[in-house]
Amino acid sequence: MAVPEDWMGARPQEPIDLHTDRPHAARVYDVLLGGKTNYPADREAAEQTLVSLPNAATIARQNRGFMHRAARYLADQAGIRQFLDIGTGIPTSPNLHEIAQATVPKARIVYADNDPIVLAHSRALHTSHPEGRTAYIQADLGRPQEILRDATLRDTLDLDEPVALTLIAVLHWLPPERDVHAVVRELMDAFAPGSYLALTYATADFEPQALQEISDNFESKGSHVRARPRAEVLRFFDGLELVDPGLTVVHRWRPDPVEIGADSLSDADIPLYAGLGRKG
Ligand SMILES: C[S@@+](CC[C@H](N)C(=O)[O-])C[C@H]1O[C@@H](n2cnc3c(N)ncnc32)[C@H](O)[C@@H]1O
Repeated sequence: MAVPEDWMGARPQEPIDLHTDRPHAARVYDVLLGGKTNYPADREAAEQTLVSLPNAATIARQNRGFMHRAARYLADQAGIRQFLDIGTGIPTSPNLHEIAQATVPKARIVYADNDPIVLAHSRALHTSHPEGRTAYIQADLGRPQEILRDATLRDTLDLDEPVALTLIAVLHWLPPERDVHAVVRELMDAFAPGSYLALTYATADFEPQALQEISDNFESKGSHVRARPRAEVLRFFDGLELVDPGLTVVHRWRPDPVEIGADSLSDADIPLYAGLGRKG
């Protein structure tokens, strides 16, 4: 399946081949979330993931739930009006801008992902509230300066004003040669005081064997995922003030009182750390 060259302003250099015959990480994640942007090969891979990690679908939903709560906190309580979401994934409603603009219609959101498959489905990311603005850029998190220089980003966000950087389930995909802590520092250094960092990151602290299996599985398919212990995830927040309750597993970060079943999950059930920090 090829995608037209001009897709809502984001221009790939050449037509995109979606490789629907093989599983794709963003689409496998979409299967786990109950989405419709996936193909038989993705559904088969999702089934294999569920063998190593039977609650993978719950993990995906809880990860998404943290993004929703963090975005709501940032827009409602922290007064944030600008967001940069890197590693956006295939659009899944509610997307970040729908949450932020529900209380702050004039909120401005830039989405970024390095995967052409996300670009192919990015139309849903442009449905901004008329008072606000959304934009999508194809960019690699491993090249933070290129993201910061991007003309669409500069046109959409005012970097003299606070920005919330959201890195949800993306940092653990960076290849080993990238210094992930330096990447986050470079991005946060570019933002004004009062900016925030929200992230989730995979850990093997609870289920080392299952995480090793998943990591080996991705490695065998030419992809890379690196889980980290709590202390290393905490380092992303060096120099920032962590918002209560600090760094915790995703489902313990300010859970919604009505969230059914979240209180019956153990830490090991959702091996992802989540945190939100403010730049002073
Ligand atoms: C598991 S999905 C997470 C999607 C979304 N943030 C969420 O949590 O629901 C990871 C996303 O990160 C993107 N990604 C992985 N490595 C990236 C990189 N180096 N630069 C930008 N995006 C990346 C993938 O293409 C994928 O869409």
